[in-house]
Amino acid sequence: MDLGIRGQVALVTAGSRGLGRAVALELAREGARVALAGRDPKVAEQSAKEIAAETGSEVVGWRCDVSRGKEVRELVNRVADRFQRVDLLVCNAGGPPGGTFDTFDDDAWQKAFETNLLSVVRLVRATLPHMKDGGRILTIASSSVKQPIPGLILSNTMRAGVAGLMKTLSGELGPRGILVNTLCPGRIATDRLRELDLQKAEREGLSEEFIQRQSLQGIPLGRYGKPEEFARTAVFLLSRANTYVTGTSLMVDGGMVQAL
Ligand SMILES: NC(=O)c1ccc[n+]([C@@H]2O[C@H](COP(=O)([O-])OP(=O)(O)OC[C@H]3O[C@@H](n4cnc5c(N)ncnc54)[C@H](OP(=O)(O)O)[C@@H]3O)[C@@H](O)[C@H]2O)c1
Repeated sequence: MDLGIRGQVALVTAGSRGLGRAVALELAREGARVALAGRDPKVAEQSAKEIAAETGSEVVGWRCDVSRGKEVRELVNRVADRFQRVDLLVCNAGGPPGGTFDTFDDDAWQKAFETNLLSVVRLVRATLPHMKDGGRILTIASSSVKQPIPGLILSNTMRAGVAGLMKTLSGELGPRGILVNTLCPGRIATDRLRELDLQKAEREGLSEEFIQRQSLQGIPLGRYGKPEEFARTAVFLLSRANTYVTGTSLMVDGGMVQAL
């Protein structure tokens, strides 16, 4: 199947490590020109260099904290200056901290809102003028879009907002040939997942291995996913081979979520 990605310009935020990096790498493997970003410019630059060396594609790595409106606007302008267009937008950010309702004050809620929901609004707003020939927008959310995860109240709330935003945008942008989807990781083996497992183990006074075994019991495929498995699904949704999937929240979860 020809994915039609060669030569397309992709912007992947929070693309310097973890799932975002895996998506940037798969896009570059398919011949996209990729701009990836993260808060630490050195890590972003290093990842871009590694991906360019591995794939032979043009890849740049720049600083952007997606919770800051000014930085988002500057990033998108920089990408547009460099490549003259943006065809594929991947909105990703680091996940908010774990905790329950009584753990968080207004500041924590505001930070989660700006990082995980308002960032998507700002990225889409800044990018749309540069999507000259239709386009694809993909947001990385969480399986909590279908089934909230105990102890992750900030994430559960913001992800639901993102899913609502994306669904609405799919209706508004469909007539312009822009397909908009939400991709929902279940448990994909990245540093962030390891951190969450460790935190849970500490909270409950159990070992990390026990917590992992517990999680695996709820996953029909019996293992955590690999970042590249997640990224391959992302690449299809972002590709020109995807001509009719829009407005969807798609689970990449090994069958974990029980919702129909
Ligand atoms: N892995 C899973 O199984 C899983 C499950 C459900 C949901 N998710 C969600 O999927 C997203 C990616 O997860 P991951 O596992 O890849 O996380 P990760 O390994 O922690 O990746 C974090 C990446 O995000 C960047 N980042 C963090 N905060 C940022 C910000 N404010 N602005 C720009 N970049 C930022 C980091 O770079 P800098 O530190 O340099 O900024 C890094 O590149 C997160 O939102 C996570 O909550 C993941």
